[in-house]
Amino acid sequence: MSFPYQIKSVDQYKAAYDKSVNDPEGFWGEIASSFYWRKKWDKVLEWDFKKPTIKWFAGGKLNITENCLDRHLNTLGNTPAIIWESNDPEEPNRVLTYRELHAKVVQFANVLKNNGVQKGDRVCIYMGMVPELAIAVLACARIGAIHSVVFGGFSAQSISDRLQDAKAEFVVTCDGGFRGNKEIPLKSVIDDALVQCHFVKRVIVLTRTRTQVSMIEGRDVWWEEEIRKVEAQGNPDCVAEEMDAEDMLFILYTSGSTGKPKGVVHTCGGYMVYTNYSFVNVFQYQPGDVHFCTADIGWITGHSYIVYGPLSAGATSLMFEGIPTWPNAGRFWDIVDKYKVNVLYTAPTAIRSLMGFGLDPVKGHSLDSVKVLGTVGEPINEEAWHWYDEQIGKKKCPIVDTWWQTETGGILISNLAGVTPAKPAHATLPLPGVQPLLVDENGKEVTGNSVSGNLCIKFPWPGMLRTTYGDHERCRVNYFATYENLYFTGDGCLRDENGNYRITGRVDDVLNVSGHRIGTAEVENAINMHAGVVESAVVGYPHDIKGQGIYAFVIYQGTHGDDALARQDITKTVSKIIGAIAKPDKIQFVSGLPKTRSGKIMRRILRKIAEGEIDKLGDTTTLLDPSVVDEIAKGRL
Ligand code: PRX
Repeated sequence: MSFPYQIKSVDQYKAAYDKSVNDPEGFWGEIASSFYWRKKWDKVLEWDFKKPTIKWFAGGKLNITENCLDRHLNTLGNTPAIIWESNDPEEPNRVLTYRELHAKVVQFANVLKNNGVQKGDRVCIYMGMVPELAIAVLACARIGAIHSVVFGGFSAQSISDRLQDAKAEFVVTCDGGFRGNKEIPLKSVIDDALVQCHFVKRVIVLTRTRTQVSMIEGRDVWWEEEIRKVEAQGNPDCVAEEMDAEDMLFILYTSGSTGKPKGVVHTCGGYMVYTNYSFVNVFQYQPGDVHFCTADIGWITGHSYIVYGPLSAGATSLMFEGIPTWPNAGRFWDIVDKYKVNVLYTAPTAIRSLMGFGLDPVKGHSLDSVKVLGTVGEPINEEAWHWYDEQIGKKKCPIVDTWWQTETGGILISNLAGVTPAKPAHATLPLPGVQPLLVDENGKEVTGNSVSGNLCIKFPWPGMLRTTYGDHERCRVNYFATYENLYFTGDGCLRDENGNYRITGRVDDVLNVSGHRIGTAEVENAINMHAGVVESAVVGYPHDIKGQGIYAFVIYQGTHGDDALARQDITKTVSKIIGAIAKPDKIQFVSGLPKTRSGKIMRRILRKIAEGEIDKLGDTTTLLDPSVVDEIAKGRL
């Protein structure tokens, strides 16, 4: 494939940027022309951030799987589309060429159809990182069903909330999943989730771990048996469903500052164009490159840069089932050498955790296939950036620090590997087509350089969210109402003397723990489910490996004899309600929380205490009971 829109020099970057601002419709129309459309769009863009309505390529008809699979068959049929590395280094790997992946997607699309799934239906996918997860995602897209992947670490309660919100009648799962030395009982978690979801008609279960599971007659079927039925039908084709550019492609739940996760909605046309465009430009994809994105497909990074971006570009996408530290901290480097990985895209938290093991695990690896390194998910500290550059990139690989969000669909701010300059710990410049700006608390634009503010985007880009599922008003209030006519990211940001952006972290009540987004209100709600808890307040604090840790202040009324036991119990409750990723790192028992006279918890003060900046608490005189602050500060963990 050739990519006429691939930017290859700083001059081209500047020219593309100018064009994208002066003639956005021309700019995106040209890029979109490189894809396969059943029918061309009538209008490139219609938008109004007030409502918000955002329509890209309206009237265009397509199916994203024809762009990710069918159109490559003649030229790349025998090229690996997905290489899969098992959690267990001894288990044989799996390679699916574009032709094989196409066949498997068609087959599973027919399984979905045989099981009653129709265009527009929501399908929840709760699986480990096996190729069938990508196959299930693409099979949904093939028939126009809306996939909603839920990360395999979420609890039954979280799944049930998501199923109810999306009104998903179909679930695809595995008997279990492998991660490091753990086995995750996926089907059993689904069974618990479905106790509250009787509307679910069908659960399709893939065999992975061979753990015993209970199958409910009439509801649960085995993936393998359903495939055999399709084979018995003579493996019919499954012509891709014709989708409108603005039809929903998927829902992905993410945390916000309120208690309930939001179902971010992405649509077919714009998301396809944007993930491909950003993939090709940021990583400077060259035909034949092996792309290793270490994320899980349960997060947006996996959707955009394991599945849709690489496959729409005809790349070879490496999918890894396990974790970086198992069976030892050299696992990533083994994989890089084994498959001659050209692009490695991971999270700062993984880099920091591997740094902690010293250089021994890196030794003995050549790593000389690597051309580009990437990071995503959270700010990268300079120490980790330099370690990555020196030890992994051997100072010859550009590092792309890619800033984006579930809502943005793809990377918005990043250097382009080897094309535009990198700067440690800076995402640097917006991609052409992206118009960021900084605003102060009053919504006034902060102009010039060497400034800071809240990061907003003032013009639409094709990969942006369109709504939050089932609640458009929530989308408006969350993203488009804080500042008039702007998309508000929730992030704070600096702009240096040369106009490079450095994202400093969330300015709302959202935490970023090991690159995972978790709402403080969500964790508080979970803690408060524990019978002994009267009230709680959760804040983030700097954590060497996770970036941010979770600090919970809890008023506890249970049998208080054994604090350690009470902590354990509360932690269990959080795991049960949300999942292990939301477990508090510290739980401090307090007798009261700092509140204003109107009853609002002053998180600012708690944050300072958690951060250990007790001398910087600021004005506490407006508190209902200022003495509680001293007590909390003294008891800090
Ligand atoms: O705070 C920013 C941080 O991650 C948030 C988005 O989280 P999520 O929707 O889960 O998507 C993560 C993967 C795209 C952002 O609001 N973030 C993401 N990338 C960076 C980052 N912070 C700093 N630098 C980054 N490169």
